[in-house]
Amino acid sequence: MSDKTPITRLTIRRPDDWHLHLRDGEMLESVLPYSAAHFARAIIMPNLVPPVVTAEQAAGYRDRIMAALPDGMRFTPLMTLYMTEDTDPADVARAHAEGIATAVKLYPAGATTNSASGVRDFDKVRAVLEKMAEIGMPLCVHGEVTDHAIDIFDREATFIDRVLKPIRKKVPDLRVIMEHVTTQDAVDFVRDNPKNLAATITTHHLIINRNSILAGGIRPHYYCLPVAKRERHRIALVQAAVSGDPRFFLGTDSAPHTDPAKLQSCGCAGCFTAPNTLSCLAEVFEAAGKLKALESFTSLNGPAYYRLPPNEETITLVKGDPVAYPERIDTGAGPVTVFDPGFPLHWHVEA
Ligand code: NCD
Ligand code: ZN
Repeated sequence: MSDKTPITRLTIRRPDDWHLHLRDGEMLESVLPYSAAHFARAIIMPNLVPPVVTAEQAAGYRDRIMAALPDGMRFTPLMTLYMTEDTDPADVARAHAEGIATAVKLYPAGATTNSASGVRDFDKVRAVLEKMAEIGMPLCVHGEVTDHAIDIFDREATFIDRVLKPIRKKVPDLRVIMEHVTTQDAVDFVRDNPKNLAATITTHHLIINRNSILAGGIRPHYYCLPVAKRERHRIALVQAAVSGDPRFFLGTDSAPHTDPAKLQSCGCAGCFTAPNTLSCLAEVFEAAGKLKALESFTSLNGPAYYRLPPNEETITLVKGDPVAYPERIDTGAGPVTVFDPGFPLHWHVEA
């Protein structure tokens, strides 16, 4: 088969999602099957109300996720602890040692949905960060400053200078994941700093730019945090994702909110991409002429950075007629609109 023969079937190791919001209760029950259908494992975000702060809370949340998993489906939630200024290094170490928590999540206070208990004074969490470096537990970072004087489109780049560089200098052995990067600046920073640094990229940030949200009418379903940036940044993200560079991997940041919560005068941030993420990604990688790099991005680079084995099982993506997926799903909590990439999807995951 020559290189020019179009690929219409692609078998890859089963993917993992290195950044996922599953929520709780009825919403959890409704959205979990969409992730479990395609992903073996996911890093579960702890921004519930109240947040998942302690090892005990993480174990309880993990049990609720497993209880919500439909019979016959297999899925492993990799839990995270929400870092507060009161987080106890010993509790974090226990959660790690007992296999309850895979990582700790750092939200600058006020950065995004349910982040009010996040960190204001980074010196207050120094002991936790040092303990994590010692035990090799990764830190997942929401990389945006919350300073209202900083333009929202600049908050990620400013975070790198004001917060990330100082943390890495003070605790150089800490393994950091800069989550859902949205800028060329973040891509460059990760590329230029090979030690103990990686980044996740979402599905939607590979597809939308800020025009998608704001040009020709406001489209709340494309509003997420960090907010999508200019087209040149989207292109930088695509280049990083398809490059095969092991420091970039998928974290969908699928973040369901009900339509009433999105469609109001102050709507919630988040795109719900779980149902069609892999179809979207296959289109993006195919358009870049890099379908063969999809497996690295979805299934190999993440486990390597988290020091976990890649999944043994595989999935097969097949190209055909446009794939039907629901425009919105009904959840016990209300309707949730599914991410619309704005183009037809031709790749489906073979049952
Ligand atoms: C996330 C959510 O809704 O919990 N929203 C989002 O836009 N990504 C929070 C987050 O990850 O920032
Ligand atoms: Zn998120």
